[in-house]
Amino acid sequence: MDRVGRRPLITPAAFHRGGHEPFLDAAVARKRWTPRRADVAWYRSVVTTGPVLELGVGYGRVARALIGDGWSVVGVDRSAPLLEDARRRLPPDRFTGLLSDVASLDLGRTFPVVLAPFHVLNHAEDGAALQHMLRRVRAHLHSDGLFAFDLRFPTVWTGPPRRTVGTLTRRGVRIPWEESTVFDVRQQRELSALRIGGQPAVCLAHRYVMPAELEDQLDRAGLRVTGMWGGFAGEALGDGPSIVVTAT
Ligand SMILES: C[S@@+](CC[C@H](N)C(=O)[O-])C[C@H]1O[C@@H](n2cnc3c(N)ncnc32)[C@H](O)[C@@H]1O
Repeated sequence: MDRVGRRPLITPAAFHRGGHEPFLDAAVARKRWTPRRADVAWYRSVVTTGPVLELGVGYGRVARALIGDGWSVVGVDRSAPLLEDARRRLPPDRFTGLLSDVASLDLGRTFPVVLAPFHVLNHAEDGAALQHMLRRVRAHLHSDGLFAFDLRFPTVWTGPPRRTVGTLTRRGVRIPWEESTVFDVRQQRELSALRIGGQPAVCLAHRYVMPAELEDQLDRAGLRVTGMWGGFAGEALGDGPSIVVTAT
């Protein structure tokens, strides 16, 4: 870890809205996300019927486990490389991958279970975008269906960009990466830029949502909270790194 020194990759002023995907490279996403396991166990425990609609399915980390449990999964993602990876690795008779932004999703059918695992809704750039995504959830969920998702627990911070550097090994070659993160207090968004090797930096923004806003947003979208925790082990809200929610 190195948080001092060189010029940051981004500043809030320089960050461009939208258009960027955090992980153009499925191998990098795989390396960074695969160690997460507690959330997969929790999603497996709450899914008791199918088929499942997974919003922001990525490379299929959670979908793979659900398929292993016997469920069919329709997975939606706006990242072509991640979705391609999911399609390549998951059984086609159990997995349908759709390249789409959740905001424009209109499948014309409902599901008994809709999931948005691992911070997908943090990608909504403002309150209106979050409300729009939640309405898309409502439109695709049975009236008594289960909507389960998790967000980052909001932690506001200020100060200069936090910089992290490391290396990853690909086909025996060590490639340096660097990540720079700032917090835009006004927009309540954490902005990160990641550069791998000599590639252009890719940018990711996470908007933090306080629990009260979340409940209000869910309510306005016609969704009712049935459970809210601070983590996947059932921690109280604020005692863990997440906001874990079930709703109907
Ligand atoms: C941190 S990843 C989680 C992937 C997967 N759910 C998992 O748990 O491994 C967030 C995913 O959400 C996708 N995503 C974010 N906003 C989206 C949107 N508006 N429409 C479709 N996909 C979106 C990203 O492309 C990314 O694959």
